[in-house]
Amino acid sequence: MQILLITIVIFMNHNQYVKCGSVVDLMYNKMSGIKDFFLDTYTAIRTRINTVFHLGTGSHDSTSNNTKKQSVTNIRLSSVLKRSNPLRVHSQPGVQTASPGEDIAHRPAHILTTPQLAATHGRIIETHVTYTLDGYILTLHRLRTNKVFDETDYESKKRIILLHHGLLGSSADWILLGPKKALPYILSDQGHDVWMANARGNYYSRAHIGLNLNSDEYWNFSWQEIGERDLPAILDYIRKTSNSTEPIDYIGHSMGATALLVLLSVEHNYNRYIRIAFLLAPLTFMAHTRGPMEMMAKIEETALIKLLGTREFLPNRRTEVPAKYAELISKLCNDLDIYCRNPLFFLAGSPMQEGTRTVESADQLQEYAPAGGSSKTIIHYLMLIASKKFHHYKRPDWQFKLKYISTPMLILSSNDDLISNATDNQMLYLSILNPLGHIIIKDQNFSHTEFAWGFNADLLIYYKIRDLIELGPDVITIQ
Ligand SMILES: *[C@@H]1O[C@H](CO)[C@@H](O)[C@H](O)[C@H]1NC(C)=O
Ligand SMILES: *[C@@H]1O[C@H](CO)[C@@H](O)[C@H](O)[C@H]1NC(C)=O
Ligand SMILES: *[C@@H]1O[C@H](CO)[C@@H](O)[C@H](O)[C@H]1NC(C)=O
Ligand SMILES: *[C@@H]1O[C@H](CO)[C@@H](O)[C@H](O)[C@H]1NC(C)=O
Repeated sequence: MQILLITIVIFMNHNQYVKCGSVVDLMYNKMSGIKDFFLDTYTAIRTRINTVFHLGTGSHDSTSNNTKKQSVTNIRLSSVLKRSNPLRVHSQPGVQTASPGEDIAHRPAHILTTPQLAATHGRIIETHVTYTLDGYILTLHRLRTNKVFDETDYESKKRIILLHHGLLGSSADWILLGPKKALPYILSDQGHDVWMANARGNYYSRAHIGLNLNSDEYWNFSWQEIGERDLPAILDYIRKTSNSTEPIDYIGHSMGATALLVLLSVEHNYNRYIRIAFLLAPLTFMAHTRGPMEMMAKIEETALIKLLGTREFLPNRRTEVPAKYAELISKLCNDLDIYCRNPLFFLAGSPMQEGTRTVESADQLQEYAPAGGSSKTIIHYLMLIASKKFHHYKRPDWQFKLKYISTPMLILSSNDDLISNATDNQMLYLSILNPLGHIIIKDQNFSHTEFAWGFNADLLIYYKIRDLIELGPDVITIQ
């Protein structure tokens, strides 16, 4: 184990700017018996992450202390739920209101919440709370627009837009680019009503009316449940709150796109509720996914579950580092590409754009990502890589019926994306009923996560999206 670890460190020391993915690619090409090797390597990395950040080990870390705290929270939440339905937590200007779904215990306390971060950008974000039919309590963030428009004037009527974050992300991802470049602000400045979802299991949506956070039952979901259960609850809540019958616009990154495709193929009615969908680096067909996920897909399920646990994917990330590990950290990690220590970047590939890799950006990204998700979410994706199909959990024979999706959709890919490959997305393009186009960003150092916070994302995609929303699906013609 020690030798493997040293090998990795040496690889990385030799090339500071190497992508995590390409390091693994290199090992992949060199080694035979890759499965066992990778299993060991991953375990080593995981152990190191745990040591450095003083983490629990997923399924085995339910201290009695935590459990007690959580059940008290749950009692409080269920009484809150009975009182008012649906819940809405108002934020007054300058006043930050936490949602009952927000998990203070697991979010690093020194990082700002989405509304707090927005406040530093001079924006006001409201916190809304809704819950799913299976009892998960979800936080929605809504950007208050500065523009006033006349409700009775049809011409001035602006869109309602829902943004859904990607794998292991949160609503904060969308605004990390700051006051000038972030997508929600660009859209809001057009007068649109911008909402941001938080999927079950992330910092803002970690409560349940009955289930304990430290239970297998709570974490028993993948992106399939996020699509089938979270999204309808969110869409229904937005429609109700905004008192609008107009179909809304949807922008989904990565898993946010997967979730929408699941919903629309399972509940055909919802196709009518969406006017146009933008799928940024969607994960559906994953035959050409490369890097660590491709390799993990070769590991059999029982070994994977042993490795990843049955609950949260690398949970309880605490950023304050105990003093006794300080020396160890400086030895192990000082020269290591910091992205390789982050589970999200390990899976999806590290940011590649020069600007995104500045010290300040890198530091901030380390704090906000990952924001939480279940191991089953990862495992379900690994199943798609193995099967090369887009199907229900553990059921390669039961594929999602993309041919029933009639919502007009625009797909965006990048040829630098390690996990959402343009070749696979072309297959998606050919599978849905009403594709508007497939834009491939070429040779811009635009990796999977940079669709949300890439330094150049505003120039490469956000203004395009803004303009296409103005045009509407009937006018858009892109081939
Ligand atoms: C998880 O959910 C599935 C059905 O969706 C069920 O068969 C299984 O028993 C559940 N497992 C746990 C630990 O709750
Ligand atoms: C919602 O819209 C309907 C019809 O346009 C209107 O009668 C009703 O008063 C509105 N409700 C709210 C809460 O704005
Ligand atoms: C995407 O898949 C193609 C094969 O069709 C492959 O050549 C390419 O390297 C893949 N892209 C990435 C970023 O892995
Ligand atoms: C991509 O990154 C490489 C290495 O940092 C750099 O040499 C190249 O100019 C970058 N390309 C673009 C389009 O920014």
